[in-house]
Formats: sequence, structure tokens, C-alpha cells
Amino acid sequence: MNGKNVTVIGLQWGDEGKGKVVDALAGRSAYVARYCGGANAGHTVTVDGERFAVHLIPCGILHDGVMNVVGNGVAFDPATALDEIQALQARGVAISPENLAISLQAHVVMPWHKLQDQLSEQSLGNDKIGTTARGIGPCYSDKANRSSAIRVAELLNPTTLRMKARLVGAIKNKTFAALYNASPMNIDEIIDTYVDLAETLRPYARNTGELLRGAERDGKRILFEGGQGCMLDIDHGTYPFVTSSVVSACGVPAGAGVSPKAVGHVVGIMKAYTTRVGAGPFPTELKNDIGDAIRDAGNEYGTTTGRPRRCGWLDTAVVRYTADLSGVDELALMLLDVLSDLDELKICTAYQVDGKEVREADPTMLAKAECIYETLPGWKQDITGCRTFEELPAAARDYVNRVGELIGRPVGIVSVGPGREATIGHNSAIEGLI
Ligand code: GDP
Ligand code: IMO
Ligand code: MG
Repeated sequence: MNGKNVTVIGLQWGDEGKGKVVDALAGRSAYVARYCGGANAGHTVTVDGERFAVHLIPCGILHDGVMNVVGNGVAFDPATALDEIQALQARGVAISPENLAISLQAHVVMPWHKLQDQLSEQSLGNDKIGTTARGIGPCYSDKANRSSAIRVAELLNPTTLRMKARLVGAIKNKTFAALYNASPMNIDEIIDTYVDLAETLRPYARNTGELLRGAERDGKRILFEGGQGCMLDIDHGTYPFVTSSVVSACGVPAGAGVSPKAVGHVVGIMKAYTTRVGAGPFPTELKNDIGDAIRDAGNEYGTTTGRPRRCGWLDTAVVRYTADLSGVDELALMLLDVLSDLDELKICTAYQVDGKEVREADPTMLAKAECIYETLPGWKQDITGCRTFEELPAAARDYVNRVGELIGRPVGIVSVGPGREATIGHNSAIEGLI
């Protein structure tokens, strides 16, 4: 469990299969830490055919002997966290302060954040962002605003919580009534509920930055579990159709309370095609039978909201950009099996923008990018049983190799099914890290 840290991040618009890869690597890590986002994330892990979908609790929770950390950069929803802890415990997963720590500095998602998220989206009509309605944007807005924010440390102090929540709740009620004609929330009821929630969660709350820096000093491996995908990064994604935190590897130090040197070996997770939930530009989107076929084959419905995901061809101009941004060392190519029924596969290699060829996505010009594609033959056979790279049909191997070549990085992991076993290691440096 000692050795170089690993950072797992999404290179597209989220749902790339980060949960599966974190689970695969967690057993070789002493710590698994979330540093961004909140319950907008939905990470799926499938163990022996049993499916676990987690939102706030790191995916390392399914492994014995791993300390799971919810870092200071997370928008922490205590109600969702408690539901999730209890649901996992009911399925036999051991959870205690021995294997779960929540940062005292994380910002709390309060009921008004979720309400504000919904009201704001409703009022925007066709211009809405298409958020997960988990209160993420409003929580981070209050974090930046400071005076209207509540952190976990304050949640745990009933006197401070009552004082602050009364003040902030009154402002929110006035604002929502004026802007959206909304009925007032019962702030005293909310306070009572959150005082109780805080008591249940108190044993888990601690200084997680200190914990992780101590792990660093002791040479214990930390695995940083990214949320969302780099194209949803607040600074570097397709703004304003993004989430509200820094989700690329650039967000790890600030969101976990470690030095930039702790980021370690960066594994970039990508689908063998592209999906996106919510609004915003998506150059390779397929609004046709092929897109529908990919959605059906990949069961592309949101883990958090159940919304159908928009589907399209692989866009290597996007991944080239996000892999550079996050300093990706190796790629994990996920859901390759989903493409098995297609006669031929297209890969976007570059764009035409204003008559010029552009090889690296620039989120500010994505809406007017026209895709340049190359076409590869499909393999038209079931690959879910393949366990080595050599067992894959030649056309599938060619596809994987071409993806690595176009992005300029090695494909270390190929995934051919949701289960732990359906994973092919292919010249991955990870083994060398152990
Ligand atoms: P995350 O948010 O990046 O962790 O990804 P999600 O869990 O939201 O979505 C990925 C989905 O793909 C989940 O339902 C996984 O179980 C599933 N999945 C992961 N890898 C594979 C794969 O190689 N093949 C197939 N068919 N499904 C996969
Ligand atoms: P994981 O970790 C896919 C998207 C939403 C919306 C935009 C803003 O499972 O990959 P927000 O609720 O964050 O304000 O929504 O971001 N989004 C995700 N899409 N996977 C996610 O997480 C996402 N988290 C947020 O659909 O377009
Ligand atoms: Mg997801």
C-alpha cells in the first residue's frame, strides 16, 4: 500500500467509468479521497453481479482496510451522506470512523441549496443548464460568498448552526419569494433536522487535510477519486454548461488539502465513445439510430438522475485537451463492449473551426466546431469474455491502438463489461507502482 499516489479523473463529460477503475485500484491504496463535486456524482461499482451506486462516499468503501476521505473541496450533503451510509450498511458494507472521514472544512449542502437549484433551473426554461438538482451550484456560490455558507465544523456546533441557519434561511426565504414567488421554508424545522444529522455524523468529521498530509509523509498511497469529467470543470470546461468545482487533476491539491506534488500517477478515464447529460455543446453527438443504439447497448441513463444520456462518437480532440490539462500518464478505455454491434466506428480526430483545422478542443469554440472523422471497421462480435489484449478481435485492438496514438498516451486499461473481472490490463504502469 506504499508508493506513488494515483489520481483517477474523467476526461469527457462525466460517467466515464471512474467508479469501476477506482474500485479496481482501491485495494492497492491506503486512502481513497474525493476532492470535488458532491452528490451530483454517481459512481457505479459492480462486484459479483451486485451493483453499488455511490454519490458522496468514496468507492474505496467496498474494500477492507482502506480509509475513505470526503475532502474539504466537496459540497457535502449530510442528508444524502447518511442515507448512503445506512443503505451500504444494510447491504453488509462496514462503515465506521475507522474507514470514513469527512472534512470539517467541507461546505454543507443545505435544503435551500437544493430548492434554489430547482427554482433557478425552472425559471431559466430552455436556457437551463440541466443540473442534477443536488444544490451543487448554490452551495459553491455560498462558499465563494462566505457570509452565507455553512461548513461541517459549524454544522457540528448547534449554537452556531442555529444562529447562522436562522440568518441565512431568512435571507433565502426573502430572495426565493421575490425572485420565484416561492413559499417560505420552515427554517426551525430544518435546523432541528440538521442538528440531529450532525450528531449522527459527528464521529466521522475531522481534519482530513492533516490526515492526508500525514499519509504523504508516511509514504502511504492515496488514490484521489475524481468526480464529473474535465469538460465539466468550472474553469476549463464548456462554461456555463459545467459543474461548479475544479474537477480536473488541477483541483486535487486544493480540494484535498495536499501539495500539488501529491497528485502522483494520473489515470484518465474515457469511454470508447462520448456521452453527456444536461445541456451544452457536444460536437460528435449522434441524434439518430446509432446514438440510440449506443444508449441502449451502454444503458446510458444517469446514475444520479436517471436521465437519458446524450450519445456520440469518440472525440479525441476533447480527450487530447483534457489529458494535457490533467497531466494524464495513462488512459483507461471503458465500455469498449458497447460498440460491438456497430458495422463501422467513427473517431473525431480534429475540428474545422472558421475554415481552420484545430486538433485540440477549445471549450470556447466548441459550439461552432465541425468534426473531422476517420472511420474504422467494427469487430461485430461479443468481447465481454476477453481477459487479455490478445484475446480481443483484431479490429478492436486496432481501435484501442488508434485511440492511444491519436491522444498520444498509452492505453493501460481496457474495460469490456461493468464487472471487476471484465478488465484488461495492457502495458499499464500501475502494476509497476505496486
Ligand atoms: P462514473 O460516474 O465515471 O463512475 O460512471 P457511472 O457509474 O456513472 O457510469 C458508468 C456506467 O458504465 C456504469 O453503469 C458502469 O457499471 C458501467 N460500466 C463501466 N465500465 C463498463 C464497461 O466496460 N462496459 C459496460 N458495458 N459497462 C461499463
Ligand atoms: P460523475 O462523477 C455526468 C452535469 C449535469 C449538468 C452539469 C451541472 O458521475 O461523472 P450540477 O448538478 O453539477 O450543477 O450539474 O454537470 N454533471 C454530471 N454529468 N456525471 C457527473 O458526475 C455529473 N455531475 C454533474 O448533468 O450538465
Ligand atoms: Mg456517474
